[in-house]
Amino acid sequence: MMEMPEPLVNPTMGTTPATPRADATPANRKKVLNVGGNSKEIPLPAHFHGWEHLLLDIDPAGHPDLLCDARTLIAQEPGQFDAVYCSHNLEHYYYHDAAQVIDGFWHVLKEDGVAHICVPDMAQVMQLVVSSGLDMDDTLYQSHLGPITVRDVVYGYGQQIERSGVDFFAHKTGFTPASLYRLLVSHGFARVFVRLGHLAVEVFAFKNALGGFADHLGGFAEMWVPFTPEQIVTQLLNFAVIRLRAGASPETIEQDLLQKGAQEAVAKLLVSQALVRHAAKPGLTDRPPRPPAAAANCCPLSD
Ligand SMILES: C[S@@+](CC[C@H](N)C(=O)[O-])C[C@H]1O[C@@H](n2cnc3c(N)ncnc32)[C@H](O)[C@@H]1O
Repeated sequence: MMEMPEPLVNPTMGTTPATPRADATPANRKKVLNVGGNSKEIPLPAHFHGWEHLLLDIDPAGHPDLLCDARTLIAQEPGQFDAVYCSHNLEHYYYHDAAQVIDGFWHVLKEDGVAHICVPDMAQVMQLVVSSGLDMDDTLYQSHLGPITVRDVVYGYGQQIERSGVDFFAHKTGFTPASLYRLLVSHGFARVFVRLGHLAVEVFAFKNALGGFADHLGGFAEMWVPFTPEQIVTQLLNFAVIRLRAGASPETIEQDLLQKGAQEAVAKLLVSQALVRHAAKPGLTDRPPRPPAAAANCCPLSD
């Protein structure tokens, strides 16, 4: 098993290997796809106890059941899994690729399926760095492997990247609770519940309405909070603006908002607010083309 810093997340639900329950038959056993799980020696959370555990990873070292790049999940057979578990993996993709991976989760999940995702919480990390006056190579926390620096959390565990020489151990993006929530909702997940851990964020993202999994978790409602109504409204408004910028019509967006559970009057109001915002602050696609002379002299990264 590869060396890895202790997970940043502190799940209160505990962990256990996914060994079959006595009453489980091959036909009724639930299936969880562990994306970027690295090795089955890293246990799954206890709520997957008794489930069939399929490990997916790009690294052959941990003998995954599916040796593949998670960005290709969309090409797998749809609706196969009751759950996707993805711990400390989403930050290993460029942001647009992480979105593609999320599309893959949605694709392989059954209609009542759920994705359980954990990532470092960059909002907490940035706050701690600023409030404690830390530098990049200062220790953020101690793990069983030794000190984990700010750089390790932002860019990936340096020792492992150096030792392995492979790029997929590097971190290529980061998330806050709100940005992870936005990504999941804008990629079709109907209900997203968020919980903060120590320097980490965990979500349960339900493909559709809350399925039996929520009951299975027991105490779910007390332990996990949906975003507040204000945050959801902000989220939906952002969604509407993004869709407008992508060229969707107000009517289509209104339909999308209704599908996401907004009431009719709220959907209409959000679309009208989004139109005002869109007009006031045009997105990248609305920019007038640069005059050729200026374009020739500009630095390609300065835009
Ligand atoms: C930090 S480890 C997380 C391991 C485990 N899930 C945990 O929480 O401890 C990140 C894992 O993501 C895997 N990974 C990175 N890029 C990947 C990709 N494109 N497709 C599939 N797995 C990938 C790595 O091989 C590694 O096993």
